[in-house]
Formats: sequence, structure tokens, C-alpha cells
Amino acid sequence: MEKSVKLTYKNETFEFPLVGGTEDELGIDIKKLRALTGLVTLDPGFKNSGSCQSGVTFLDGEKGVLKYRGYAIEDLANGADFLEVAYLLIFGELPTSAQLDKFQSDINEESIVDEDLKVILKSFPKTAHPMGILASLTSALTAFNPSSVDVDSEEDMYKAIVTIMAKFPVIVAWTQRKVKGLPLNYSDSKLSYVDNVAKMMFKKPNSDYDLNPTITAALNKLLILHADHEQNCSTSTVRIVGSSHAGLFASISAGISALWGPLHGGANQAVIEMLEAIKADGGDTKKFMAKAKDKNDSFRLMGFGHRVYKNFDPRAKIIKVTADEVLNELGIVDPILDIAKGLEQEALSDTYFVDRKLYPNVDFYSGIIYRALGIPTEMFTVMFALGRLPGWIAQWREMRMNNEPIGRPRQIYTGATEKVFKTLKKR
Ligand code: CMC
Repeated sequence: MEKSVKLTYKNETFEFPLVGGTEDELGIDIKKLRALTGLVTLDPGFKNSGSCQSGVTFLDGEKGVLKYRGYAIEDLANGADFLEVAYLLIFGELPTSAQLDKFQSDINEESIVDEDLKVILKSFPKTAHPMGILASLTSALTAFNPSSVDVDSEEDMYKAIVTIMAKFPVIVAWTQRKVKGLPLNYSDSKLSYVDNVAKMMFKKPNSDYDLNPTITAALNKLLILHADHEQNCSTSTVRIVGSSHAGLFASISAGISALWGPLHGGANQAVIEMLEAIKADGGDTKKFMAKAKDKNDSFRLMGFGHRVYKNFDPRAKIIKVTADEVLNELGIVDPILDIAKGLEQEALSDTYFVDRKLYPNVDFYSGIIYRALGIPTEMFTVMFALGRLPGWIAQWREMRMNNEPIGRPRQIYTGATEKVFKTLKKR
């Protein structure tokens, strides 16, 4: 097998080693490229560039495979609890019962949020987007939990992880309760992580909340499916912010902002808005398909296409089945589910989508489930963030433990050169 590649430049040949991964991926190690040749590489959007070596998540976009720490996503989504998956991602192995009990009880212990955070939440207008609120409150957690993390201390690291895992669902629930005008509440130490999420989000002040197994099972599955996705935009943001040795909460707050965009996690909100617009327009899916294909029209079929998957997104397959199950079990008939299925059918047999290998992604059907659970559309990306939290933590921890250098890309400068400066009066 080849061990290196050669590059010839100015009649000189340079050799660069190949780096292999455990799933047979190969990359060219160009760490010495600039020092040896004076050249840099140019790769906008990092379509060909690996930013790190990582042992957290593997995905094969051509085959539609996704694994967390070696476990198939299908097995985890169907057989595990979200907190087990969080533990697996962060610490590298599935927990024993004793380890999981300890993780859960440490989280319960930390699940109080400083009451003063409510003042910050209160000062947001009701119309504020929940993702903006979530990013701000996550950043504010740093101010209320100021001790810095010594990444060489396992104890310090564990404390920071437990703190954010505990407080994040509380501020997620508070964000939804603010939107809905409901009083703020706390978790219940007797309940599991996901049951607590459901209760904190949905409990009304004038009645008890009976846990609904359909709702908690659907939430559990969605959170697992969103828990990590290797070096996507928000995760890369978390790693690059953390690479300056910014703290965990600050890095995660930056990741939330990155996730918000409609090309990334914000797509789940955009999909429902698109399906609603198609419905309001009379349900003519062909018209919107034509718009998506028209290069003079900025409209894109939201929830379709992926940077890495050039085949079915395995998460979308699971979510589509779950959407059907959840709507059936809850007795909900949602006409936009039919519109979504119609669009998918058309896209899968349309040469534009087939040639470009555009398939439904994780966001195409997830919003239909969130909607059936009674979550407001603007909260969908917040739910994505709640699921992604363990992935961001795992990747941040790995980056710091590997002592990665600060992220600082190069550029090819294309601006003006050698302009003559004139003082303001002379311009
Ligand atoms: N509708 C219509 N055309 C599309 C779409 C789409 N959704 N996605 C890609 N294309 C076309 C694109 O116009 C381009 O065509 P051409 O080769 O003729 O110029 C080709 O397919 C390749 O697209 P690209 O934009 O170069 O691909 P990318 O890897 O840079 O972008 C993407 C990936 C996910 C941003 C893009 O597919 C997209 O905008 N999808 C809609 C938004 C979405 O659903 N995002 C959620 C992604 S999955 C969850 C997550 O990561 O958060």
C-alpha cells in the first residue's frame, strides 16, 4: 500500500506521508507543506480538508453509515437511553449501571440554575428567537459558574461536563416556557434525563404532568439521532473556539450560534415553514420542485442534501418511520406529512436530485415529530442543540486532551497592494 504522495513544484519533488484511520480513510499529512514549499492549500468550506483526527464518530457518506464510538446509530437509537449515549460519546465507552446511576445522580445534584439567570431571560422580548436566547443563557452560565477548568484534572473536567449536562435542559425548557408564557420550573430528581426534559417543557401550572411513553420515546430517539455528527459546522466551531482555550460553556454557546443557520440545524424550522408555504399555496409540490431546480431562484428544498451524505442519511430513515409511528400513536393527522412524503417521492426520481445525490437529511421529518409533540416551530433548532450537547462536549474534550494547536487557517490574499495613504482632508 502507498505510504506517501509526492508533489512536484519548481522542479523539486516533496514527499508527504499518508495518514490512515481505523475505517480505512486516508488523508495526506500536509503539516510540513508550507515549511518545505512555501505553499498553502485553498479549500473553501473545507470540502476536502480534515481538521483533526477523532475517535468519536464515524460516518461514511457514500454508504449512508453512521456510528458513535463504533456502535451503529440504528442500534443506539432503538436500544439505548439518551444519557447512556451521552456518556458513550463523552467518555468513550457505554456506562455500566453503576456508572450511569452516578452520572444521573451527579447531574440531578447540579440541575439548579442560578435564579438571577431568570432576570436575563425576562429581559428578552417574547418575540426573540429561542436560539438567540439559548446562546445568550449558555454564555451567561460562564458568569454564574466562573471556576476555570483545568483540563489535566479529570475531576475538574467531569465537574464541568456534569454542570453543563445538568443546567442545559433547564434553560432549554425555560426558553420554551418563555415563548409559551408559562412559569419557569425545575427538574425532578426522581425522573430520568429525558423524562425530565418532557416534564419541564410541557407541564402546565394548573395540572399534574403524566409522562406519555410515546412522547418520551420519540424525544429519546430524536436526541440520540442528533447527538453527534463528526466535524460539522457547529462542532467545528466548538472545537475552534475551544482551541483558543476558551471555556467549555463559551465554546458551546458559539456552537449554538453556528447551529442556528438554516443550512445547518436551522433547517428543521425552515422545512416546516416550507411545507406550510406549499400547503398554503394549494399543495402543488411540482411548482416548488421546479423552483428548487431553477438556478435563478434562491429557493432550496430544505431538509434535502448534505455535505457528506451522498446516499440516504441513516438518521432520516429512522426519523421517517418514527414520524409515522408518533402521529399514529398520538392520533394526529398532519397534512404536511403527506406533502413531505410527496416531495421526497418526486425528488428521489428527479434527475436534478438524483444526479447531485440529494437525499432527505435528518431535518426533513424531525420537525413533523416535534410539531406533533406540541413544540413550537421556532424551538426545533433548540431541540437539535439539546441533542447535540454531548457531541459538542465530547469533541471539545477530545480536542483539549489531544492538546490540539489553536485553529488558525491561512488565506490567499486578493486585496489591494501598496496604496498611497492620504490624510482625511486630502481625500
Ligand atoms: N435544493 C436544491 N438544490 C440543492 C440542494 C437543495 N436542498 N442542496 C444542494 N443543491 C444543489 C446545489 O445547488 C448544487 O447544484 P450545482 O452543482 O448545480 O451547483 C449541488 O446540489 C451541490 O450543492 P452544494 O451547495 O455545493 O453542497 P454543499 O455540500 O455545499 O451543501 C447543504 C450542503 C446541506 C448546505 C445543502 O445541500 C443545502 O443547502 N441543503 C438545504 C439545507 C438543509 O437541509 N440543511 C441541513 C443539513 S443536514 C443537518 C445539519 O447539518 O444540520
